[in-house]
Amino acid sequence: MSTAKSARAKAVKPGADPNRLVVFDTTLRDGEQSPGATMNQEEKIQVARALYRLKVDVIEAGFPIASPGDHDAVKAIAEDLDEKDAPIICGLARSLEKDIRSAASAVKNARRPRIHVFLATSAIHRQFKLKKAKDEIVKQAVEAVTFARSLVEDIEFSPEDASRTEPEFLCEVTEAVIAAGASTVNIPDTVGYAIPDQFGSVIRTLKEKVPNIEDAVISVHCHNDLGLAVANSLAGVRNGARQVECTINGIGERAGNAALEELVMALRTRHDFFPYVTGIDSRRILPTSKLVSNITGIHVQRNKAVVGENAFAHESGIHQDGVLKERTTYEIMRPEDVGVEKSMLVLGKHSGKHAFKNRLKDLGYDLEEKPLVDAFEKFKTLCDKKKTIYDADLIALVEDQLVSSAPVWELELLQVASGNKAVPTATVILRREKAVYQDAATGDGPIDALTKAIDRITGVSGKILDYQVRAVSEGREAQGEVDIKCDFDGEVLYGRGFSTDIIEASAKAYLNAVCRACAKGDTAVKKTERPGHVAPKPVGATP
Ligand code: KIV
Ligand code: ZN
Repeated sequence: MSTAKSARAKAVKPGADPNRLVVFDTTLRDGEQSPGATMNQEEKIQVARALYRLKVDVIEAGFPIASPGDHDAVKAIAEDLDEKDAPIICGLARSLEKDIRSAASAVKNARRPRIHVFLATSAIHRQFKLKKAKDEIVKQAVEAVTFARSLVEDIEFSPEDASRTEPEFLCEVTEAVIAAGASTVNIPDTVGYAIPDQFGSVIRTLKEKVPNIEDAVISVHCHNDLGLAVANSLAGVRNGARQVECTINGIGERAGNAALEELVMALRTRHDFFPYVTGIDSRRILPTSKLVSNITGIHVQRNKAVVGENAFAHESGIHQDGVLKERTTYEIMRPEDVGVEKSMLVLGKHSGKHAFKNRLKDLGYDLEEKPLVDAFEKFKTLCDKKKTIYDADLIALVEDQLVSSAPVWELELLQVASGNKAVPTATVILRREKAVYQDAATGDGPIDALTKAIDRITGVSGKILDYQVRAVSEGREAQGEVDIKCDFDGEVLYGRGFSTDIIEASAKAYLNAVCRACAKGDTAVKKTERPGHVAPKPVGATP
C-alpha cells in the first residue's frame, strides 16, 4: 500500500466531555445490508437528512467500493449535508488500497469526512477467511490505517469479529492501529455472540491494557443474533466505550444491529445508571423510524420497544386505570419524548369502565352513570365479537344507544334464512316493555323478509326509500352501519342500526325508524297501521 502523505499525523482527539457518547448511525451501511433493504440514492439522501435532523454524530453512508451506485450515494450524501453542524460522513473500506481510495473519494467533500477501515482478527476468520497469521493481520491493519490516514484525517478501525478474538491479540491490534493514526477503535460483536458481562470485560481489558487507548475513542458495534445487541452495547458503554454504533429500528445484517432508539432511550430513561448523554433529539425518533420503515419496506413489529405501535398502548383495565391516575405507574418514558403524540389506551375486553368513560369523553360523549353502565355492557359484548375496538365502533355503539334510548320496540331475536335457492324467511322476536312478540315472514330478500316480520308485530309499516350500508371500522370483523330512510304514509323518518352483522344492523335500523314513527304518537302510527291489523298477542314476557 502506497502512502500519499506522511502516515503518522496526529490522531483526531476524542471529544472533550468524557460522558458525551458519540452516536454513529449505520442504517445506510449495515442497515442497508438487511436482506431486502436496498435503497436508491434519493431514498438514501432522505434517510441521511432525517438522521441529520435526529442529530446523530456520525452517518456511515455506505460501502463505496461495493458498487459505483454505493460510491455515488455516499458522495451525494457527503455533498448534500453541507450545513455547519452536519454530522461526520463515513465510508466503509476493507483494509485494501482500492477500498480506501474509493471511500476517500466518496467522503472527501463532506464537511467532516471519516474512513472506517476493517479487518478480521479472530482465529476463525484468520484461519478460514483470510488465511493469515497474526503478524500479517497486524501489518495489514497498520498499513491500511496509515494509508487511510494519509488521505483523510479521521480514521476509524474495526477488528472484525473482535468479541471472538483472543483478548491479548485484540489489545495488540488496537495498540498498533491507534499508533498508526486511528482515532476511533470500534469493537464489533460481528456475529452477535457476546454476552453483556463478557463484552463489557472486553472493553474494560482494552481500557486497562492498551497503553495508548486514551488517544482513541472506543466504539461498540453489536449485532442482535441473540437479542443482546443493545444490552451488549450498554455494557460496553459502562466499561469505557464512548461511541455506539446502531441503526434505526435495529435493521442490519441477519438479526440486525443495536437499535438506535432503544440505546438512546435506555441511556436517557436510566440516566441514574448510565450518567452519559447523547446529542440525539429524541422527538425525531418516531418520524425517523417511520421513514426508514417506509423506505426499506421493513415493517416494525407492533411490540417493538420505543417505536412499535404498542409501545405506548395499554389494554389491561388495571394498567389503564393506573395510567389515567398517574402516567408513571405503567409508563417509564413520555411518549412525546420519542415523537409519539400520546399514549393510547387500547380498548378491548381487558379494559375497565374508567378508561371506557375517558375515551368516550375524548370522543365528545359525556354519559351519566346509567347510560354509561349500559354502554359499557354493550361494549364488553362487542369485545367478544371483535378483536380490535376502534373509535368508530365506540361512536357507533353510543349512537346506537342514544337513538334507541327510549325504544318502543326492541329487537330480542332475529333469525334469517336466505340463499340462492331458498325463500328468504325472517323470524323476529320483539320486546315491548316486558312482553315479547314473535312473528315470521317471507320476502324478496332477507331485508324484505325481516321488515315484513317486524311490520306484522308492530302493525306499523314503512316504505323503504333509501338503504345504505357501510363499514364503520376496519377489518373483517368491522361494525356495519345501516341507514334507512322510510316513508310512514307521507311521514319520512330515518333509522340507523349498528352491528357486526349487517342483517342485524338492518333490522335495528328499520326498527329504529319504526320506533321513531311510534314516538311521533298517533299520527304516524295510526296512518300506517294496516287496515285489519290485529294487535299481536305476546308470546312471553321478560322478567
Ligand atoms: O459487524 C461488523 O463486524 C461490521 C464491521 C464492518 C464493522 O459491520
Ligand atoms: Zn456489522
